[in-house]
Amino acid sequence: MTSKITIAIDGYSSTGKSTMARQMAYQLRYNYVDTGAMYRAVTLYALQNDLFHPALDVQSLVEKLPDIELHFDKSSSGKGSDMFLNGKNVEKQIRGMEVSNKVSEVAAVSEVRHKLVAEQKKMGARGGVVMDGRDIGTVVFPDAELKIFMTARDQVRVQRRLDELRHKGMEVTRQEVEANLRQRDLQDSTREDSPLTRADDARILDNSEMSAEEQLKLALGWAEEIIQNL
Ligand code: DC
Repeated sequence: MTSKITIAIDGYSSTGKSTMARQMAYQLRYNYVDTGAMYRAVTLYALQNDLFHPALDVQSLVEKLPDIELHFDKSSSGKGSDMFLNGKNVEKQIRGMEVSNKVSEVAAVSEVRHKLVAEQKKMGARGGVVMDGRDIGTVVFPDAELKIFMTARDQVRVQRRLDELRHKGMEVTRQEVEANLRQRDLQDSTREDSPLTRADDARILDNSEMSAEEQLKLALGWAEEIIQNL
């Protein structure tokens, strides 16, 4: 029997982490966990419960954390899995600009991180998982056998995010997307609790000039080399 490893993928917003992580998991027959979706779902909960005035009411959110149940389940499209918040499929809602503009504020709350990190550790406890986020290689799985830190040039990221949102039928301008990415990069990498940083032992993957197929091939090559040498 071949052993299953843990793969941690971190990096800035819109560097293509989720696409690559999902494809790697599919090829390796591993589970894929999109941790950004979990922070987004908590943000949606805060919006639905009027916890922004306009800044986040941190204390109320912390008090309500036990009422927030998150899980992934089969996608309605039949492909992959969707995020469920208290039993409701929220996959579409969590991808919109409203959530994107508030999520870094929620992700900076230590109690939120504590809850989500504990759930993520459980989901990956038996290995055979590809998890993507901002703190996977540094906090969630510091012992992951393979850590990848993804980057891409700013304008490449803006274009990708714009294409993604428009493909989903959302009306957004380049300026809005650019401002959102800038603000999230800054907030995510300067927050006190678990800021986005590259783990010392992470391999850097700059995919500015790479196709999805090329980067997948490279990353799968790294994974297979590690699995064979276990
Ligand atoms: O990957 P994403 O863009 O869907 O993530 C949404 C936000 O959640 C991102 O701006 C930062 C936060 N996040 C985090 O702090 N830690 C993670 N492991 C994943 C996401």
